[in-house]
Amino acid sequence: MIEFTVEDRDGEQKQVEVPEEISLSLMEVLKASDYNILATCGGMALCATCHVQVLRGLEDLPHAGDEEMDMLDTLPDAGFDSRLACQIRIDETLNGMVFRIRGDEQ
Ligand code: FES
Repeated sequence: MIEFTVEDRDGEQKQVEVPEEISLSLMEVLKASDYNILATCGGMALCATCHVQVLRGLEDLPHAGDEEMDMLDTLPDAGFDSRLACQIRIDETLNGMVFRIRGDEQ
């Protein structure tokens, strides 16, 4: 299993476990885990409602692509540790990471 921690908008942290062979994005796993994420664009890096902050493990993630960087640039509250959850693939590098949900609520 791949295990990482998710902090919701109230600051509550929970462990999320995902099978290793799953082929999903972090956004899809967060939605499937009942986190309130709009994901209006369906994972195309076009809406930024899946904005997360990477509180631990940022350096282990693949760098953001141009489309993701462009979209993050439009967010007034984005920081150096901001990413779009739809652009993060679930794999074993996510083990031990901590993500804080930041995108707009429904
Ligand atoms: S779901 Fe729209 S940018 Fe990630």
